[in-house]
Order: sequence, then C-alpha cells, then structure tokens
Amino acid sequence: MYYSSLPLLSLALCASGALSHTPNSYNFDPLHHLAGSAPPFNPQDPPLDPSPPQGCNVTRAAYLVRHAAIYANDFDYESFIEPFVQKLSNTTVDWTKVPVLSFLSSWKNPITDAEQEMLTRAGKLEATKLGVDVAQRYWSLRTPKKIWTSTAERTVKSAKAFDTGIADDGSDIEVVQVYEGEKEGANSLTPYESCPAYSGSAGTKQATAFLKVYTKPAIGRFNAAAPVFNFSATDVYAMSLLCGYETVIRGSSPFCNLELLTPNEWLGFEYTNDLMYHYNIGYGSPVSGAIGFPWVNATFNTLAATQNNMSNATTDQDLYISFTHRELPPTVLVALDLFNNSAFSGANNINGTMPTNAINHRRAWKSSHILPFLTNIAIEKMDCNSFGFDAATYYRVLVNNAPQSLNGCSDGPGESCKASDIGSWLNARAEVVGEYGAVCMTDYKNSTNVLGIYSS
Ligand SMILES: *[C@@H]1O[C@H](CO)[C@@H](O)[C@H](O)[C@H]1NC(C)=O
Ligand SMILES: *[C@@H]1O[C@H](CO)[C@@H](O)[C@H](O)[C@H]1NC(C)=O
Ligand SMILES: *[C@@H]1O[C@H](CO)[C@@H](O)[C@H](O)[C@H]1NC(C)=O
Ligand SMILES: *[C@@H]1O[C@H](CO)[C@@H](O)[C@H](O)[C@H]1NC(C)=O
Ligand SMILES: *[C@@H]1O[C@H](CO)[C@@H](O)[C@H](O)[C@H]1NC(C)=O
Ligand SMILES: *[C@@H]1O[C@H](CO)[C@@H](O)[C@H](O)[C@H]1NC(C)=O
Ligand SMILES: *[C@@H]1O[C@H](CO)[C@@H](O)[C@H](O)[C@H]1NC(C)=O
Ligand SMILES: *[C@@H]1O[C@H](CO)[C@@H](O)[C@H](O)[C@H]1NC(C)=O
Ligand SMILES: *[C@@H]1O[C@H](CO)[C@@H](O)[C@H](O)[C@H]1NC(C)=O
Repeated sequence: MYYSSLPLLSLALCASGALSHTPNSYNFDPLHHLAGSAPPFNPQDPPLDPSPPQGCNVTRAAYLVRHAAIYANDFDYESFIEPFVQKLSNTTVDWTKVPVLSFLSSWKNPITDAEQEMLTRAGKLEATKLGVDVAQRYWSLRTPKKIWTSTAERTVKSAKAFDTGIADDGSDIEVVQVYEGEKEGANSLTPYESCPAYSGSAGTKQATAFLKVYTKPAIGRFNAAAPVFNFSATDVYAMSLLCGYETVIRGSSPFCNLELLTPNEWLGFEYTNDLMYHYNIGYGSPVSGAIGFPWVNATFNTLAATQNNMSNATTDQDLYISFTHRELPPTVLVALDLFNNSAFSGANNINGTMPTNAINHRRAWKSSHILPFLTNIAIEKMDCNSFGFDAATYYRVLVNNAPQSLNGCSDGPGESCKASDIGSWLNARAEVVGEYGAVCMTDYKNSTNVLGIYSS
C-alpha cells in the first residue's frame, strides 16, 4: 500500500518539530507549576548536560532530598483545602448545571484527616525510583552503609523507600534518624526549627497580596456561573492545591483541567508561592543563607576527606544521602548563591526582583524548580582529566539533575569548581550569609554552628 508523498512530508515535518512555531502548538502542564505540591520532575533549569563531563569520573557524591509526595501538608489543608471542602459540603448549588464545575456534583475529597502528612503510594514508589536512579548513576561507587533523615514519619519512610531502590536489600542500610528538636543549633536536618530568628509565617503578607491579584478573573468567572457559592481567593487557591495533592493520591485530578484555571492563573498560583518562599526561606529572608550553610560546609568537608585523614568517627562511604523537609533545600541554595534573582544584575535589589503586584517571569527563583516533592541537591566530587582543563579534582552541584554553575567558581569541566578553589569560595560564602548562631540569635547556651551528622 502506498501513501502519497505530501501527507508523509508534512507528518515528517511535524515530527521533527519544524512546525512547532504555529500558534496551536502551545503546551502547558500545571503539574510543573505547583510549587510545594508539584510531583517530582526534572525542569532542566538550566539545561546543562547532567552526565559527567568528558574525562571525569565521579568518586563521591552527597544528596539532600525532600521527602516524597504526601496526602497534604497540615498548613495547606487547614488553611485552604478544609475550609473549601466544608463550604462545598454546605452549599445548595446544583453543580450539575454549572458547566466547568459540574464535576463537583460527584467529587469526593481524597484527603482524610488520618492520612494527612503521610506518604502517598506514588510517593513511596517515586522515592524507590530515586534510589534506583542514584544506584544507576553511580553504579561503580559503593552502596552507602548509612543514610540520614530527620525524624518525621514522612522523611523516615522516604529514606526507607529510597533504600529499597538503591540497595540489593534495603535493610542492609542503616537509617540514622536526626532529631527535629528546637535546640539543636545547626546540628540537624531541620536547622530552621532551632533558629529563633526564622519566622515560619514570613512571606505570607507578600503572597497574600499577589493572591488577590491573580485570582480576580477566576473569582469573577466562577461567581458568574454559581453566584450562591461566593467563591473567594482562598477557594481558588485551594483548587490549585487539590490539583497537586489529588494527583499524587489518585493519579489525576479534575482540578488540573485548564478550562477550570487557565495557564496564566497557574502561573499566578506559582508566583504566589514563589513570593512566600522567597521571603520565608529564600533571598528575601535575612536568615536563610546562614541556616543552609552548615549543610554545605559539612558536606564539602566530608566529600573532601580521604580515607587517610577522615576522622574515624565519620562514616567512610562514597554516597552521603539525607532526607529532610521542604524548608532546608532552598536555604542551601541561598548558601550556594544559586537561583539568585539578582545574579549578573550588577545590583542586589532583593525585593525589587519579586514585585507583589505583577509576575517577574524572568526570575530565577521558581519554587516549582526548587522544592517539588523529592527535590534534591547533589554535590559530586569528580576526578577529571579533560581536554582543556588541568587534571585535578573538581566539584559540581546539581539541582533536580540539572548542573548548576557556582557564581565565581565554574571554570572547570562542565562548569565545575576546582577542589583547590572551593575552600576560599566557601569562606567567601560564609562571610556573605553569616554565622548560624549570630544570625539566628540563638537564645539557648548549647547551640552549635556545625552540622555533625555524618559522624553519627
Ligand atoms: C457549614 O455548616 C455548618 C453547620 O451549619 C457551620 O457550622 C459551618 O460554619 C459551615 N461551614 C462553612 C465553611 O460554611
Ligand atoms: C541542647 O540541649 C538540649 C537539652 O536541653 C538538647 O535536646 C539538645 O540536643 C542540645 N543541643 C545541642 C546542639 O547539643
Ligand atoms: C462572600 O465572601 C467574602 C469573602 O471572600 C465575604 O467578605 C462576603 O461577606 C461574602 N458574601 C456573602 C454574601 O456571603
Ligand atoms: C566549617 O566546618 C568546619 C569543620 O567542621 C568548621 O571547623 C568550620 O568552623 C565551619 N565553618 C563555618 C563558617 O561554620
Ligand atoms: C583531607 O585531605 C584532603 C586532601 O588532602 C583535604 O582537601 C581535606 O581538607 C582534608 N579534610 C580534612 C577533614 O582534614
Ligand atoms: C583511625 O584509627 C586508626 C586505627 O584505630 C588509627 O591508626 C588512625 O590514626 C585513626 N585515624 C584518625 C584520622 O584518627
Ligand atoms: C545575590 O546576588 C547578588 C548579586 O550578585 C549578590 O550581591 C548577593 O550577595 C547574592 N545573595 C546572596 C545571599 O548571596
Ligand atoms: C524588603 O522586604 C522586607 C520584608 O517586607 C522588608 O523587611 C525590607 O525592609 C525590604 N527591604 C527594602 C530594601 O525595601
Ligand atoms: C576514570 O575511570 C576510567 C575507568 O576506570 C579510567 O580509565 C580513567 O583513568 C579514570 N579517569 C580519571 C580522570 O580518573
């Protein structure tokens, strides 16, 4: 059977992307704009090649990982989802008659109080998958003897599910639990909890200001369709949260339908979150870099140590993996000067980069790229003999599999940083972000500025 060559030609053109500039080729996936409830994905931000640079072998690596997908975060549930769900259960609106919202006539809340904050089935599977990914990426390195996790059940279970993937027998790996206390100084995987100067509510004001801006058209649309319900900004925000949580629980959600909330509104939801995290644990917080620095310092020191000079207390392994909550990875990024909106701007106008009345689409600080479920920051130590570079040891940072250039130390293979330069680079960072105890204004006597988990 023969086809005429013309349709074949246009098919081939489509497949090769030659027609991808037509107006109808617009694609938008709300799951990539869900901030803290985004399922794991690799945003390729920036799109540098994640494989080891030519001539380089990874000899050690460390990972800081946020726990996998949960049913719902307490704060999201109590502040937004529960009030919306209660309002739904009270309403007299006949949803069957409301076109885009008709699914509400039969929709059931998939989050029960008992399951809140627990890992979902998909979450466990994805944590195991990350373990397999790490095992495959570093197949020639030793399987770790220990991995570390903060004590919350969702982090411990993420660590155990990860073990199942990375090891032949997950129970061969010791899961070291690190207490989430409020007087641990920098010596935990939740150092913000022990930092009196950190405010859990920082950023709410700025986020709320933009929430009001971006939800206006959606409120107008929904209230035109179902006036009795009196949709509010927090109802619209709850719908976006439900898209994320219902997807990680049930595999899909009617709230992700782009006829319900438009791509532009999803970008508004994302930016609202970015504002909150910017002021809470990002560059807009005066304490975040000091909170993240101890993990950076301890991790580089541990990767640098050789078997000869490694203190006998520090576990000698090739891979150092730790599980924590969403707050820590962003502070580590600030300590590393990554995703800094001000970079290359010639200025440091922290607030100006995140206006609360309009989206800065060109910002570097995107929470969906920084703290989705299972978000991870990796530091790789590499032995390199690459064309055009000194044969030496280099370090590279990856965020969700995307290599990052350290500002001021990126002239090695694959934009890596030479090991002999990292000490002075870290000292300069310590100067910028400040010391944990001083910045946090710790008010208990036994605080410490050093993270010592790798020796426990
Ligand atoms: C729903 O109705 C109950 C009982 O009338 C009332 O106590 C509650 O405040 C209502 N909730 C909402 C969100 O309107
Ligand atoms: C400080 O003391 C408290 C008990 O009072 C303890 O729980 C905490 O772990 C200690 N912190 C450090 C950094 O040793
Ligand atoms: C509608 O909701 C707003 C808050 O979003 C509230 O101020 C207003 O009183 C409500 N109107 C009615 C008629 O319930
Ligand atoms: C970095 O860690 C080393 C080794 O634990 C410690 O001596 C040093 O004080 C730390 N630096 C900072 C700035 O905290
Ligand atoms: C161990 O030795 C390496 C290489 O000689 C050095 O860079 C590193 O700072 C040393 N680490 C410690 C903890 O002494
Ligand atoms: C570690 O222990 C061995 C034997 O117990 C000892 O010879 C060595 O000096 C110790 N190394 C360090 C860095 O303390
Ligand atoms: C962010 O970048 C600006 C511009 O390079 C710099 O002045 C500032 O110190 C950086 N912020 C942090 C916390 O490093
Ligand atoms: C930036 O915003 C923070 C939080 O609102 C505020 O404390 C700070 O003064 C602002 N900085 C400038 C330079 O306006
Ligand atoms: C990397 O590993 C390969 C295979 O073991 C080896 O031939 C090569 O010399 C190593 N390169 C460096 C720079 O260590």
